[in-house]
Order: sequence, then structure tokens, then C-alpha cells
Amino acid sequence: MPVTPLDEHCWAIDTPASTYVIRVEVDPATGEAAPAQMYWGPRLSTDAARELSVREARRHVTSFSAPTEVEELLPVDGGARWGSPSLQVSFGHARSVELRFAGAGVHDEGGGARRLDLTLADAHHPFEVVLSVRAHEDTDVIERWTTVRHLPDQAGEPVTVTRLDSANWFVPDQSAYRYSGVFGAWAEEFQLQRAPLPVGELVFTSRQGITSHQANPWIMIDAGEAGEEHGEVWGVALAWSGSWRLTTTHRPEGGVSVSAGFGHDGVRWTLEPGQELTGPPALGLYSSGGFGAASRAWHEYARRHVLPTPGEERPVLYNSWEATTFAVTESGQLALAKTAASLGVELFVIDDGWFGVRDDDTTSLGDWWPHRERFPAGLRGMLDGIRDLGMRVGLWVEPEMVSADSDLYRAHPDWILHLENRRRDEKRNQLVLNFARQDVRDWALDWLDRLVTELGLDYFKWDMNRPFTQAGWPEQGAAQDRVWIEHTRNVYHVMDRLRERHPGLRIESCSGGGGRVDLGILRRTDEVWPSDNTDAKDRQQIQDGFSQLYPASTMSAWVTDSPNVTTGRAMPLRYRFHVAMAGVLGIGGDLPEWSPEELSEAADLIAQYKSVRRVIQHGAQFRLAGTPGQERSAVQYVLDDQVVALVYNPLGNAKRGPRRLRLTGLDPDALYEVVLGGDAGEGRPGRLAHGSRWHGSALMAAGIRPAAWEPIGADYRSDLVAFRRVSR
Ligand code: DGJ
Repeated sequence: MPVTPLDEHCWAIDTPASTYVIRVEVDPATGEAAPAQMYWGPRLSTDAARELSVREARRHVTSFSAPTEVEELLPVDGGARWGSPSLQVSFGHARSVELRFAGAGVHDEGGGARRLDLTLADAHHPFEVVLSVRAHEDTDVIERWTTVRHLPDQAGEPVTVTRLDSANWFVPDQSAYRYSGVFGAWAEEFQLQRAPLPVGELVFTSRQGITSHQANPWIMIDAGEAGEEHGEVWGVALAWSGSWRLTTTHRPEGGVSVSAGFGHDGVRWTLEPGQELTGPPALGLYSSGGFGAASRAWHEYARRHVLPTPGEERPVLYNSWEATTFAVTESGQLALAKTAASLGVELFVIDDGWFGVRDDDTTSLGDWWPHRERFPAGLRGMLDGIRDLGMRVGLWVEPEMVSADSDLYRAHPDWILHLENRRRDEKRNQLVLNFARQDVRDWALDWLDRLVTELGLDYFKWDMNRPFTQAGWPEQGAAQDRVWIEHTRNVYHVMDRLRERHPGLRIESCSGGGGRVDLGILRRTDEVWPSDNTDAKDRQQIQDGFSQLYPASTMSAWVTDSPNVTTGRAMPLRYRFHVAMAGVLGIGGDLPEWSPEELSEAADLIAQYKSVRRVIQHGAQFRLAGTPGQERSAVQYVLDDQVVALVYNPLGNAKRGPRRLRLTGLDPDALYEVVLGGDAGEGRPGRLAHGSRWHGSALMAAGIRPAAWEPIGADYRSDLVAFRRVSR
């Protein structure tokens, strides 16, 4: 029973390990209703929750501040409030919302999920707000979203929404506050930052029409004391792939809240009578087991409630981009495919360059037919050749884009995002198609659908290489701001319809690397490309930031050439493989240039990966020790009886970093046998020999000395060690 009414204005929402208590507070003097959070923390009994269902006067109220608004579920711009509003609406020329409580409903959604809807109505205008809260029996992640409605009325006064956050989450009072999040840029996405939370408003945002490289829509807050495996952490994430804003308010009077929602800053969304607008899910998670447990809870939530194909093992793929860039030819791809197949690759993806007259990035986006000079007879021959080698096939596409030099743009110059009397700036020589338009959306669905059908495709890599600029839709007049939301909705629509029509189709989300990674896109994509930076050392940091929220089964990771094309850094093949094995292993190198020894080592490593990938992709992930890419570090995965650890040492004889690797999450009383790796220490007593058996308690309390962590040796050493629980 995840939703329990405590009285007619108060509910306790229970998850397996947390409780969230909310009350619709009604001001006896004014009648204004303000739903507020009374509690969010460890699971409580219903009786205990009831004790917390009455608000204490815990903040200092003066005529200059309304400090309790941080505790509201959706502080509005209206009444006596001065904080950052989660909801801002104008009626005619006046911007102000005053709400009255209009009712509540609890709905059983089946599958162990229950939803509470709180309905509030404006005191004067025909306008309604519904706050929805959903809890599942099998996750501590609570889902919230908000719907606003212009009720049918005679007057027809315009209602304009300029901010609609999905939820405001209050972080219970602590002695101190620290935040964790990720920032980044192209080729350096997902850089973890963790710092004291300043008093004021901290905004993580994207104004780009995509999730962005610069920030990712989540934050975690702790009291400054949580570690990987201990301490309380409160997290908020937004499941949305367009522009977004996540505002963390740390009030001078005390109190911290996180309000999250979609839309560009100051987006104007006009609601005609009878129309409504619903935001994407804003998700809240309380965890008492530190950042590691919080990440594992997010991963498990993604597996149970977000990913379209959570049970599958993701195939080892080959991607041609770094090897051939735009020079896609049948003979070149088949040569790559032949070697890739001999290594054990299962899915071959042809990247940019197969269509239009796409010889470089100046042309042809929008002209989605086979390159006439290179593929005069179409792509069939090449794709069949790849399939004959026993691999599935995929194609790169960039459906939301058009090159100025393309037949599509010449035919439909009005199809792009643009503003009257403003420039049409190009980035990477391309313009953004206005996917909010139904004709554009339907055109994209049509050609994508035909490609899958006619070519029997198994996979799309869906790319998006430039953010929105001059984002207008002149024909829509005052309503043109809706491109900021409808574009993303229609990207979702096209992906969803494609998947419905082609249940075997798998989709990868890419946006110049990791510009579109979030829990919204992951509802309809199977994996994502986290970064164009394939340097294994840089990648370790990127992967560490990625893993804070997203599971390894979604993280595409390729082994590419050495020296790396982006950084020029040279690194052993084994290290590159071991880093890429931490997610969905792929190969992106120029294989004909690899030596026979390298190819043979690659084939062995791919076979090893396949033997443990279920554990890596679907197991519980533990970030064990050390700063990834900087010093000795390791990441571990546990699934049922199997344990896999990937161990790294980028700096040969550095004295920094941990010396012994203490595993986590094992059964202390069970025996674990080394089934893979550990070869360097074989025969030497006390070392990690293949076939040796260890108690879970010993592996966790004293740890092991992996060969790669021996103090003296070359740079970039790494190990893959796997154990199997053999007895209890
Ligand atoms: C950007 C992607 O991140 C790359 O992997 C590659 O697909 C290029 N686009 C192709 O233009």
C-alpha cells in the first residue's frame, strides 16, 4: 500500500525504504491551499508518519520573508512569496496564482504502483493544477509531475504559463549541505562536482533544446558526510530531453529545496479554454547507503521502470566513425566488418557518410537516400554482406537536422526553427528542423520507417549535433514558444512509433557525444553514447560521472586506436578494453591497421567480456576506490553468485591511491572462487591465483592485491577479475 491517507488533507507515500508525507495546508484566514512536504526520509510506520503530519513552526517568519515556501510541493508565483516559483502563470496581463484545494484521489495503477492526485483550483480564474505523485512497491524513487488546465469557460481570457516545474522537493533540515552533480562540455561530459551548497539559488540548466553536455538534469544533496557506501543522500532527477531547469534553493533562513521542470527560461505557453499542459516526471530518491547505494537505486529504477529492453544483454558493436569518418564505401565497410566479425562483434553500425552526397559535414542532412556515387545500387548489397558475416546491422541518422545545402532545405526552407527578421545561424553547417511541426514529424517517421523496413535494420544511432538557436515558428505567432517542448515530445513520438512498428529495432541516443542522456530519452532508447572522447583515461572520469545516475547497460563504450584521435594519448589495448568493458563494449578502431597480435588479443578480450557482460550490464555496481583515471581505482559488479571487478592503474609507480582492493556487497560467510584474471600472482602464496578461494568477509575486510596495483610497473596497467560464489 504505497499511498496511505492520514487524514483528509494528508498522505504518507511509502517505498520499500523511505516515506514521504505530504499535507495540503489551508490558510484559515485566506483559504489559500499550499500542499507541503512534511517528511521525506527513512521508512516510517503509519503511526510514526502521523506524528510528523502536522507542521511545526520551525522557521523564523518575518514580514520580509516566507521561508516555509521551500517546503511547498509547488510554490507558485502569487500570494506572499518571494522565492523561485515552480509555477508561474499569467491571466490576461496579471501574473499571479492563488489556489484553493479542490480534492484528492488515490488511484491503483496496477503492478504495485499507486498514484495520488491533488487538485487545486485558482480562487478566481478557470484554472486548475493537478499534482501527481506515484510510488512503486519495488523502488525508492518517487515520481512526481504537474498538470495545469485552462478550464472551459465563456470569458476566454488568455492563460499563459511561463514556468511549469514538475515538482519541488524539500531536503529535510541538516547541519550542513553539500551538492553533487555533473558538468561538462563536448568531449568532457559527466564531470562530477561535489561541493558545499552555497546559500542562494543554484541553477543547473540547459537552454539548448537538448539535455546538454554542460549539465545533466539531476542533483544529489547530503549533509557533507556521506561517502560511497554510507550516509543519507537525497536526489532529484528530471526525465526530459529538451531544455530544462533544476533550481536548488538554499534559503538564508534555512531550508533547501530542489525544483525541477522542462522548458526554456521564460517559455510562453498559452492555454486556450479546455487545454492542458503536463510536465515530465521529476523523480525523488532518498537513500541511506551513501552515493553508491543511491546510484544503484537509480540504476535499478531505470531497469524496472524506464528502459524499454532491460532484460537484454547489449551486443558488442562496431562503429565505423573513427575509422572512416565520412568516407563510407562498400569495400571499406565490408573490410572492417570482416575483421570485426572475426573478433566476435555482433552488431555493425555504419556511421555518418552513407547518404545524400555526404562527403563532409557541409551537406546532405535531410537527403536520406543512399549516396548516389558510392552506392549507386543502394545499401542492400553492403548490408547483406555484413549480415552474411553473422552480424546485425545499424545505421547512423540525424533526423532533426538539415544542411542548408540539401534538397530538403531547398524544398522546405520553412521547416527549420527560425524567427522572422532574424538570421538563420548555422552550426556545424546545419540547421535544426522544427520537429514541433506535424508535417516534419510525420516526414521523419515515414523515411525512418521505410529505412528499417526496406533495409531490415536492427539499430539506429540517432544523433543530434547542434543545439537550438533562433528557435521560432513564425506561423504560430504568440504560440511559437511551444517549439521548446513540442520538439522533444515529437522526437519521443517518432522513436516510440518506430519501436511499436519494429519491435526488434534498437536505438542509441547520441548528441555529439553525451548531449542527450537522461531518463526521458532512456525510456525509448537502449543505449547512449556518453562522449566523443574515446581516450580511455578521460573516459574513466566520464564513466564515473555517468554511473552516478545511469546503469552500465546503457553506456556505450568503444575501444579505439592508439594514440587516441582526440587526445593523442597512447595506451595499451588491454587498458582500453578494460575501460570500455565497464559498460556496453564496442569497437571503433581502424581494424585493418591493427597488428595480428592486437587482433588476437582483442578477440580474447571480447570473449572474456561476453562471459561476464551479464554481470556488468545488469549487476549492482560498486565504485570501489580511487579517483578514476587519476590513480589506482576499481569498479565492481555483483549479480547473483557472480562478481566482476575491473581494476585500473594509470600511473605505473605513483605512490598515490589505494594499495589493497576491498570488495563490497558480498556474502561475508560465503566462499568465492577466482574464475577469471588474477593470473599475474599465480603460484605466489597469498596472491590472487586463478581457482583460489576466498571468504567474502576476507575479500571485503582485507581485500586483495590485484596485479595492476603492484607499486612498480608500467603506466596503464589493468585487470579484470571475476569470482563465483561457490558455497555458503
Ligand atoms: C557526432 C557523434 O557523437 C559521433 O560519434 C559521430 O556519429 C558524428 N557525430 C558523425 O557526424
